[in-house]
Amino acid sequence: MVGGGEGAFIGAVHRIAARLDDRYELVAGAFSSDAGTSQRSGQALGLDPQRVYADYAAMARQEAARPDGIEAVSIVTPNHLHAPVARAFLEAGIHVICDKPVTTTVEDARMLQALARKQGLLFAVTHNYSAYPMVRQAQQMVREGQLGELRVVQVEYAQDWLAEPLEQDGQKQAAWRTDPAKSGGGAIGDIGTHAWQLADTIVGRPVQALAADLASLVPGRAVDDNVQVLLRYQGGARGMLWASQVAIGHANGLRIRVIGSAGGIDWCQEQPDELLYTPLGEATRILRRGTASAGAAAARLSRIPGGHPEGYLEAFASLYSEIAAHLLARRGGGNAPSDAQFPTIDDGLRAVQFIETVQASARAGGSWITVPH
Ligand SMILES: NC(=O)c1ccc[n+]([C@@H]2O[C@H](COP(=O)([O-])OP(=O)(O)OC[C@H]3O[C@@H](n4cnc5c(N)ncnc54)[C@H](O)[C@@H]3O)[C@@H](O)[C@H]2O)c1
Repeated sequence: MVGGGEGAFIGAVHRIAARLDDRYELVAGAFSSDAGTSQRSGQALGLDPQRVYADYAAMARQEAARPDGIEAVSIVTPNHLHAPVARAFLEAGIHVICDKPVTTTVEDARMLQALARKQGLLFAVTHNYSAYPMVRQAQQMVREGQLGELRVVQVEYAQDWLAEPLEQDGQKQAAWRTDPAKSGGGAIGDIGTHAWQLADTIVGRPVQALAADLASLVPGRAVDDNVQVLLRYQGGARGMLWASQVAIGHANGLRIRVIGSAGGIDWCQEQPDELLYTPLGEATRILRRGTASAGAAAARLSRIPGGHPEGYLEAFASLYSEIAAHLLARRGGGNAPSDAQFPTIDDGLRAVQFIETVQASARAGGSWITVPH
């Protein structure tokens, strides 16, 4: 692991997720740019002090040289470090699992895509919302045509934790997220990218053009904290994406509605076991994880009987297990199960292209811009 030291947020989630299915062992890390903090963090996790590093480049080199060196690295640093860290490990021949957004520029994402291909290495991006059972159910329903011709995609990720200027008090997570050089963008990069990727997973077709409005609503903030984007999908569907970190009353309000000519679905991350489904002209039904109302795609990722809630940690663990299926297949020279899916560097690149197109549209006063593919 690189990042995820004392006081960090998502590193601990990755560690739990990686180990929930006994497919990974944490054996080495550069947990902080500060040597003492990295060492203390590694000790608290029970690691061999010799495999706790002060610097990620040394970790990549030394782990690659060990007969028992790591097979994959999880990158959980602030965004601007993803590219140099991933590059160091790819160059050392080590598979990469990286948090989102994969880079702060399209140029860096392309560089990583090319390098991963050249080295023949796996590159996963932890867009974790794609691994919820009822998200896979929604994806399956769209693929099977149960909604008919797609017409409307409405996706939102509303939070309120940045409704005040926390960054001015030095709050660790707020500080780098509101520094454009470290984050690459505000709400659009931090959570808009999750909303985009959730829609991408379910809808399965690209956004062709968009028109965006970005705003910094908290005085003095250096990045956007509220974004609204109009979307035109390939095939004609229209969409709208709202990402906000000043939406008082919303904690992690990631919600998507997809409406076609034959029906509509509605999923909210805060009630993840339920998918609302309304066939045209009929009453709304609740499809529930762990019951016969959910199909095979949801059942594959379901862990415990219905009624016992599954959520963020379990879905994150499922994503790690999907990646593990591919890592194990590569190790054995075989094929991973075709239904084991995870977002790759190709998806990570498309997400960063989406972010940059949103920023370009907003700079141009909300003009329609074609999304490059
Ligand atoms: N998938 C999700 O749901 C999700 C949720 C939160 C954050 N994230 C992503 O995870 C990443 C980290 O976010 P966070 O909230 O955990 O940040 P954080 O600030 O809590 O943690 C960042 C960690 O990186 C370490 N670090 C910084 N520079 C380093 C270096 N040079 N070498 C080694 N370690 C270094 C810091 O010491 C800290 O431990 C971001 O890219 C963020 O977008 C994803």
